[in-house]
Amino acid sequence: MPVKSTVRKVVFPAAGLGTRFLPATKAQPKEMLPLVDKPIIQYGVEEAVQSGIDNIIIVTGRGKNAIEDHFDVNVELESFLQQRGKVELLEEIRKISNMINVAYVRQGEPLGLGHAVLVTAELVGDEPFAVILADDVIDASPPALQQMMDVFEKVGGPVLAVERVPPDQVSAYGIVDIDTSIDLGRGVYAVRDLVEKPSRDEAPSNLAIIGRYLLTPDIFPALRETASDRTGEIQLTNGLRKLLKQRKIFACEIAGTRHDTGNKLGYLKACVYFALRRPDLSEAFRAYLRSERV
Ligand code: UTP
Repeated sequence: MPVKSTVRKVVFPAAGLGTRFLPATKAQPKEMLPLVDKPIIQYGVEEAVQSGIDNIIIVTGRGKNAIEDHFDVNVELESFLQQRGKVELLEEIRKISNMINVAYVRQGEPLGLGHAVLVTAELVGDEPFAVILADDVIDASPPALQQMMDVFEKVGGPVLAVERVPPDQVSAYGIVDIDTSIDLGRGVYAVRDLVEKPSRDEAPSNLAIIGRYLLTPDIFPALRETASDRTGEIQLTNGLRKLLKQRKIFACEIAGTRHDTGNKLGYLKACVYFALRRPDLSEAFRAYLRSERV
């Protein structure tokens, strides 16, 4: 029977090393790289808040203090802006620390996404929760997480966000094998299996798992039973495969524009995309992009 959506918490795994952005990420987290003037992770946090969730759990590791500082109150900065009469900036800065209740948990070693989710078990407790990978910035209305929560209410089980990708890109993603005998409406599927990074020929579909998961607490025992892979990491996909033996899992195609800011080209595209949507920048930036100098 479908359960009512009671998703109150969002987990942000942010303990990865961000090696694709070295040297920029040697001394700062990749989640703090800006898209125009807002750090990547703030887009995800705003998506959670716009979806009605303000309890945020951030999984951090070494060198991630900037994330904690970003969501904390900065008394010195606030009084400086106040003295200078910079009211709008002050509002903007206050909004960041006021918008969420945030808890941090350390992942001692980056032992994989599945392990990062597992270290939140205590903080999440016995209730459904969401996972947002901040790298995937999704411009959508309603917000991606809201779309998933709407599906969760109907199907009453874990929901994975998926996107159709070109066949030559399936090998970069976890791909879902869907059960076509179950009709759940447009863009919603029952998952039959999950295949991590299949070759083009082996891929059961072109529906790729993207950085949003709506999970139920039975994922924790499943992850505890999940062995590390060849690289020593516990993969969330493998935990989900274990869970799939016990319960139904669903996939939901997200309507919106996703940017994978975890790679350089995707990051650059996202910078351009968001700059062109900023009223204070778009005209001049568009003119610059059209100019012969680019
Ligand atoms: P990525 O696969 O993007 O890895 O992790 P990464 O370390 O962040 O970046 P690269 O590949 O070295 O450039 C996907 C998400 O899972 C988190 C990351 O912070 C990112 O949000 N993660 C990954 C953890 O929190 N812990 C881990 O052990 C691994």
